[in-house]
Amino acid sequence: MIKIAPSILSADFANLGEATAKLSGWGADWVHFDVMDGNFVPNITFGPPTCKAIRPHTELPIDVHLMVEHPGDWIIPFHDAGADIITFHVESGEHHLHSLLQRIHALGMKGGVVLNPATPIESCIHLLPDCDLVLMMSVNPGFGGQKFIPETLHKIHQLRQEIERRNLSVDIEVDGGVNPETAKACIDAGATILVAGSAVFHAPDPKAMIQMLRCE
Ligand code: DX5
Ligand code: ZN
Repeated sequence: MIKIAPSILSADFANLGEATAKLSGWGADWVHFDVMDGNFVPNITFGPPTCKAIRPHTELPIDVHLMVEHPGDWIIPFHDAGADIITFHVESGEHHLHSLLQRIHALGMKGGVVLNPATPIESCIHLLPDCDLVLMMSVNPGFGGQKFIPETLHKIHQLRQEIERRNLSVDIEVDGGVNPETAKACIDAGATILVAGSAVFHAPDPKAMIQMLRCE
């Protein structure tokens, strides 16, 4: 079963609680929460206080995507703010990726790493047994509404083969430019979770859009 994780980066920031509350009625599985620090990526969004503010508005898991330097500094604050899943970039400058996954798990959350478009899958293969998921960026992180980078499909396929070869259970989440045209190819390549920001929030009928993205 494919999971859909709408990114509230594309929601109306003046009404985030309301936007978040609508997601379960639309049939979404997770709330994707894009954290940007203005250093790792050229944009700034929101942090733990905003996560804490939306927490009472949904029972869906909150999937925190850390696009920040020093992601290790933010594990406890996001845990305390009600996050369920935390992913961080292998390119973040964090020296101890494995121990960061251990820290996330010790707090009872799911954890995984994120790969930018130019980062080869080799950067995460030794972490796979300790990842609940790997988030594959299909655009350069920083902004919603960008065009899907097709080479990502090759990476998803390679990673899925590696996961199956080792008989592991790891989700592959795809983030950026996911829409009804690109979703099917991601799923066929081996993705199990699709993030969608603009496709969902700018759709005339978000519920129908989420259903369409599942490609069932
Ligand atoms: C980009 C973010 C994405 C973004 C996706 O840096 O990580 O989650 O919101 O937006 P769309 O679906 O519009 O490409
Ligand atoms: Zn994201």
